Amino acid sequence: MKLPVGARIIGVGAGLPASVVKNSDLTRLVDTSDEWITTRTGIKERRIALDTETTSGLAIEAARDALGFAGIEADTIDLIIVATSTPDDLYPSTACKVQGAIGAVHAAAFDLEAACTGIVYALAVAHQFIGSGTYKRVLVIGADIHSRFLDWEDRNTCILFGDGAGAFVLEADEEGETGILSTYLRADGTGAHLLSIPNTGSAYPHTGTTPPRAVERYLQMNGKAIYNFAVQRVPEAVKTACESAGITVEDVDFLVPHQANIRIIKSAAERLGMSPEQLVTNVDEMGNTSAASIPLALWQAIQRDQIKVPSTICLVGFGAGLTWASAIVRWTARDHRRIQKKTEHTKESTDKRETQEV
Ligand code: COA
Repeated sequence: MKLPVGARIIGVGAGLPASVVKNSDLTRLVDTSDEWITTRTGIKERRIALDTETTSGLAIEAARDALGFAGIEADTIDLIIVATSTPDDLYPSTACKVQGAIGAVHAAAFDLEAACTGIVYALAVAHQFIGSGTYKRVLVIGADIHSRFLDWEDRNTCILFGDGAGAFVLEADEEGETGILSTYLRADGTGAHLLSIPNTGSAYPHTGTTPPRAVERYLQMNGKAIYNFAVQRVPEAVKTACESAGITVEDVDFLVPHQANIRIIKSAAERLGMSPEQLVTNVDEMGNTSAASIPLALWQAIQRDQIKVPSTICLVGFGAGLTWASAIVRWTARDHRRIQKKTEHTKESTDKRETQEV
């Protein structure tokens, strides 16, 4: 359904822990090898938060970076949505912490939980708010610190995840054109048991005498089932988002999938007939950063000059819930800071030339 007002993405940003953990470091914790992790997942290293780093801290860093990219001030933001399943606390929301820290004094703020798919869900919600004319600028952040909920003695899971935050700034398009061409959101709660971080919420009875053992609060996953779910749902989500945007898969220039496993990404690309050059991935450097992974992958592709402006991009996420979602985006955003630097550089050389000529 076409919304009355267009929305486009004008900024993207990242917030990353400084600490890099390589596969070889993990061999000191569990019975694994760099070769096994690389061939089964494509992951070589990941960022892991220090004890002093928090989900809100990474989200704030990503928010500031995205605002800098867009060249706008925090007090012009109307709404902040943080997609996270690992918030600092049950409340206050991580979004409220971001709002306070960056000085987004006019913004409403809330968290949204759809696990690794959260960022695409949040983008869709932001699109609706802008599309209906309610808000003009929305900051959408995906932020997670999964390392706090991993059993570092379980080789099946601890090798997969990394920590980080990624952000998008969305703006109403005054010219009436839209940058978000379509969104597609799905869920299947019958698969809830396949991927979970149990005993961290109110379902765990407060007996006062038998707190859950640490290991009962760690991430639990049926890896094979999640793998099969992902390889089927990603192509479906891409095709459906294309159909509702009125384009075909051939019209998509770049696919930015959730960065869980390079084999899932390649299998989906193959089913869709996409070439390796069209894939945006950084799973080798970041691992699975959950809700942060899609903006982080796009952010890094922009740093590497992989993304041409303008281009048509498909974002596709999947994860616990089960949930999966996609969006078709007409990408027109340029890094305001780079443009400013270029302008200053050109002005400097013109001034120099003029001085020499005098
Ligand atoms: N190092 C070495 N061996 C490992 C290992 C590790 N880190 N993790 C598991 N193994 C072992 C298993 O114990 C198993 O041994 P066994 O045959 O003796 O029992 C063997 O490797 C093969 O395991 P299998 O489950 O067949 O591997 P796989 O090819 O399915 O890969 C995953 C496992 C987890 C990488 C893969 O299933 C996956 O990526 N699933 C999706 C997970 C995901 O993306 N989750 C997040 C979604 S948002």
